Amino acid sequence: MSIPASEFKRRRKQLMRMMDKDSIAIIPTAQTYIRNRDVEHPFRPDSDFHYLTGFSEPDAVAVLIPNRKSAEYILFCREKDPERELWDGLRAGLEGATEIYEADDAFPIDSLDEILPRMLEQCERVYYAMGCNHELDHRMSEWIGQLRARTRTGVHGPLEFIALDHYLHDMRLYKSRSEQKVMRAAAKTSAKAHIALMKQCEPGMHEYQLQAEFAYQCAQKGATSQAYPSIVGGGNNACILHYTDNSEPLTDGDLVLIDAGCENACYASDITRTFPVNGTFSEPQRQLYQLVLDAQKAALEQIKPGNHWNDPHDAAVKTITHGLHELGLLKGKPDALLKESAYTKFYMHKTGHWLGMDVHDVGDYKIDGQWRMLESGMVLTVEPGIYIPVGSKGVAKKWQGIGIRIEDDVLVTKQGYDILSKDAPKEIDEIEALMAS
Ligand code: GLY
Ligand code: MN
Ligand code: MN
Repeated sequence: MSIPASEFKRRRKQLMRMMDKDSIAIIPTAQTYIRNRDVEHPFRPDSDFHYLTGFSEPDAVAVLIPNRKSAEYILFCREKDPERELWDGLRAGLEGATEIYEADDAFPIDSLDEILPRMLEQCERVYYAMGCNHELDHRMSEWIGQLRARTRTGVHGPLEFIALDHYLHDMRLYKSRSEQKVMRAAAKTSAKAHIALMKQCEPGMHEYQLQAEFAYQCAQKGATSQAYPSIVGGGNNACILHYTDNSEPLTDGDLVLIDAGCENACYASDITRTFPVNGTFSEPQRQLYQLVLDAQKAALEQIKPGNHWNDPHDAAVKTITHGLHELGLLKGKPDALLKESAYTKFYMHKTGHWLGMDVHDVGDYKIDGQWRMLESGMVLTVEPGIYIPVGSKGVAKKWQGIGIRIEDDVLVTKQGYDILSKDAPKEIDEIEALMAS
């Protein structure tokens, strides 16, 4: 399942409609990075570039010039090269760029220095995301410098640079039907993998075994990349928010927190489940888990068009503050505790983020200083948590070494919300029953 070619075309047209006249947009794909010596890190195309082209090869730059008669969409990419293709895999080549990827014209990437300055010369405005690709930033300033040097010959280069990300990232925030389908499929695959982990987990296994099992389960369903490095934290490790060592054994009596999600057609899923290593919650674990679950449900109830971005977070911290107070973990008056954000001792992150091609997806959270309104078609995560590391001052021993997060992927609908990751169980009874089966 992937995004149809017609949609990439529609996106390019939409962006070109927003651009001023006599303008050009330049969008490079991601750079390749060396891991060590002649081994590269796995290549993943830049999300903005892929959003507009669907093209997955490295060494490519897309150029859009609205209303240009000869060609509006030009793709610079690698030429076909049978010898290199024998080593590194097939390339679309210039023919593939026009025939498969529907570019109006295509040029070898090696000709960028020769051809792009001539295109720039014709334009008044350049839409470009400065600071994202240092190599291209550098070449861009060289090209502009060369044009300046030729002013006495009547050449004048662009007058204005405009932040392309501002336009593109707003488009990316609203997910089309096919994007929703692709994201739902990613979340379903990840949810199934989380279920498999619940079934297989037992004391003595290592965190990395669950990480490997997650990747295996996703790959079995065709999702061969992860949207981000999996977090598998047993016991106290769950209190390290970005724990990715995943190197320790899982202990009987501990919880394990798994934050893992696959990528499908360059779209992310991002799911966290926390469950007991031995299949049964202890009483303190049960109390804290139920509190996080209640906070998540309170946050979800705030998701509907017209509510603002921070409403789910406000609802979650209210529930967590009251709950921690009832359990004796926060002392004082609940209203005062809320006012002074006392919960941040145990809940130190926000309740979610936009989700899309990037796990922490693009899109502004505030507009003119105000939290943005939720609108149908947006996708966000809802992920409250409570973290009580070993050694926490003034906290009874029974609570220490417990880290819990529950995270779902949520589509804002006309009526409210739809949980894309709903297949992954999160009720205590459901989890215990599944782990006992
Ligand atoms: N997996 C990263 C996050 O939940 O934000
Ligand atoms: Mn997340
Ligand atoms: Mn996550």
